Order: sequence, then C-alpha cells, then structure tokens
Amino acid sequence: MTDRYAVFGNPIGHSKSPRIHALFAAQTGQDISYQAILADREGFAAAVSAFIAAPGGAARGANVTVPFKEEAFRLATRRTPRAEAAGAVNTLSFEADSIVGDNTDGAGLVRDLKHNLGCDPAGRRVLLLGAGGAARGVILPLLLENPAELVIANRTEETAARLALEFGRLPGCAVMVKPDGTGFPNLAGRAFDLIINATSAGLSDASLPLPASVFAPRCVAYEMVYGRNTPFMLQALASGARVADGLGMLVEQAAEAFFVWRAVRPRTASVLAALRPAS
Ligand code: ATR
Repeated sequence: MTDRYAVFGNPIGHSKSPRIHALFAAQTGQDISYQAILADREGFAAAVSAFIAAPGGAARGANVTVPFKEEAFRLATRRTPRAEAAGAVNTLSFEADSIVGDNTDGAGLVRDLKHNLGCDPAGRRVLLLGAGGAARGVILPLLLENPAELVIANRTEETAARLALEFGRLPGCAVMVKPDGTGFPNLAGRAFDLIINATSAGLSDASLPLPASVFAPRCVAYEMVYGRNTPFMLQALASGARVADGLGMLVEQAAEAFFVWRAVRPRTASVLAALRPAS
C-alpha cells in the first residue's frame, strides 16, 4: 500500500510541498502520497492524530510549516540534535512507538548555498539578519560549516545577543566559531561575504536599516523569502551583491525531509527549474 505523507500549516493553500514531493517520488520511483492539510490554529495535534488514524496506506511522516513548528517540536516524542538546536520541527516521522521530530531547514539552506549557488560558507564572513524562529533554525548548520565569523544582527539587539550567547556554548558541540549578536547600527563599517536575511521584514515590504558597507565585493545576499523582490534584495542588488531568494532552500529542505523518510536523496535541479517562474 502507498505510504502517506502530508504537510500541515495554516494557511496551507499555496504550499508548494505537495508538488515538490510528487516530483521527487516520480523521479525516485517511490510509492508515496503527499497532501496539504489545513489544521485549525488550536487543532494541530488533533489533525496529526486524525491523519495517522485515517484509512489507507500507513502514515509515515509529515512536514510542518507556519505556525506549527514549535508545537510539532513539543508533539515529537524524540528529537534530532538539529531539531533541538532549532527549537522547532519541520519534519515528523511516525514510527511504531514514537514520533521523531527533525528540522531540515538549516540543512536545506546550506545545501542550496553550496550546491546550487556555489557559495560555501566555509571561511566566509557571514551575517545573519534576524533572531526569530527562521534565524534560529539555521544557526547550528551554518556554524558547522566553519565560517570565518557569524554575526547575528537584529532590530531588537538584545534578542540577537541572547541567541549568540546560547549558540556560543552549545553542550557537546565542537563548532569553531562563536557567533556575535548585535544591532543594525553596529554594522557600520563592517563587511560580509554572505548575508542571509532571516527576518520577516520582506513579507511586509519593509526595508532593513543596513549600512552600505556590509556588502563586501562579490557578496552573496540570500533572502529566505521567495516569490517577490524584497527591499533587502533590491538593496543588495544596488550594492553590487549577487542575490538569491529562498526557493532553493524550500526545495532543498524538502529533499532532506524526503531523504529522512525514504533514505533516497532526490536530485533537485529539475524540480527547482520546474518551480521557478519563467522570467
Ligand atoms: P520567523 O519565525 O519568521 O523568524 P519571528 O520569530 O516572528 O518570525 O521573527 C521575525 C524576525 O524578523 C525578528 O528577528 C524580527 O525582529 P525583532 O526581533 O526586532 O522583532 C524581524 N523583523 C520583522 N519585521 C522587521 C522589520 N520591519 N525590520 C527589521 N526586522 C524585522
């Protein structure tokens, strides 16, 4: 029988995940179904239980998106180290006696940077903008790539400082670099080779008060939002940076989830091309 998967979110109507996983399944010959499920804001755990109990093939796993990633973290009975570090879960695996929570967002970002964009964070001066859930999810995977430095800058400086402190003393984790947390004004005069926007400012077309100095020559500016030219992307382009949006991260985090579930790694280039609107 066909193994069942789903993505839970609210809203969920525009999710690209069912299409991405259908393309992965066709490419790898895996017999799975994958549906989008709109869960009530108060009804995430009930929706997951109903999905697991539904008739048909076995429910093997699920992706989780806004606003349920923290709740999925709590729902999981076991969690991977990268989910623990992220404090959020975007991938659930349903096993006989447990629900395993994982987080593939950071791995997706790193893979997009290295394999699709040719931008290896190793040895680069990296600036991460934002200190919310999206930023937290990518800090450990970025640190594990051994950047020359990692600066976390946030509108609310205190949140960035707290996050940097937390990731500077991760137990049992041998990362080479301790992140630095700061506010936007303190970036004046500093330059970075890779700048990742993990704030939600782009969703409301708000620009960030970034000093022009931050864009080093040949800087790569990465916007986690996709589907629109955000003010951050426009500022980066005007400063001569190479700009990428978050569509590659979306496809790569999905590929990593598919690998977690099926132990088969799908190729992503053709899927990314199929999703990218013709320009
Ligand atoms: P997410 O899960 O998408 O990260 P979040 O946890 O609400 O959402 O975090 C939003 C992030 O975007 C925060 O870092 C927030 O900065 P504050 O901590 O100062 O609130 C940042 N952000 C949102 N709108 C912004 C804006 N207009 N300018 C600068 N930063 C903004």
